[in-house]
Amino acid sequence: MSNSNVTVCVRFRPLSHKERKANDKVCFKKLDSESFVFKDERDEDVIFSFDKVFYDDAEQSDVYNFLAVPIVADAVNGINGTIISYGQTGAGKTYSMEGPSILHCNELKTGLVQRVVNDLFECLRTSADITTWTVKLSMVEIYLEKVRDLLDLSKDNLQIKESKSQGIFIYGATEISIMNSSDALERLSVSFGRNCQQSCWRNTNEPGQQ
Ligand SMILES: Nc1ncnc2c1ncn2[C@@H]1O[C@H](COP(=O)(O)OP(=O)(O)O)[C@@H](O)[C@H]1O
Ligand SMILES: [Mg+2]
Repeated sequence: MSNSNVTVCVRFRPLSHKERKANDKVCFKKLDSESFVFKDERDEDVIFSFDKVFYDDAEQSDVYNFLAVPIVADAVNGINGTIISYGQTGAGKTYSMEGPSILHCNELKTGLVQRVVNDLFECLRTSADITTWTVKLSMVEIYLEKVRDLLDLSKDNLQIKESKSQGIFIYGATEISIMNSSDALERLSVSFGRNCQQSCWRNTNEPGQQ
């Protein structure tokens, strides 16, 4: 792995039932755990390399261990961390981040978010350090360049600002203190629901979306 503090991975999801029924084929070939071959529009092989490639047999825990464990460890030591999930609709972003459900999910399918929250509190609980901790949660959705507060829907156009002490931050975003992981997951579940309802609505009402 490179010395960069940014890690970029790709994850392929398994073909869906519908895709298998339609006899769809995958358009890449596995090379190794860091590279795959993709046929471009001229039918030529192009090799893509990443810090890690998770093929369709990768477990949620594989993704978590490689990507998120170092970020949780750093966070406990005061180093900021971010996980960004990027890809077209249906690629598997929500599955990777949340699994089938935030609150009701078997261990195998549990997503990154729950694993991060559980491990964060576990690290704080078992820390030998005498430091006292405060864990706060904010949740916003950025859509059409507007920032919406998912913990307080009346705040539907928050401003992004920059200050010397805080760097870039979202002014006025609701912050709630969280005492333990189940508290955090309950809150996240409600807010993800708000986000999802919006995207489902959009997906069925806007042209060009699935
Ligand atoms: N790694 C995976 N294993 C099994 N099913 C997956 C996986 N990734 C995605 N899926 C399934 O594929 C579909 C689309 O995934 P989803 O996470 O909703 O995509 P996105 O959030 O990127 O639009 C869902 O039915 C999801 O359960
Ligand atoms: Mg999604």
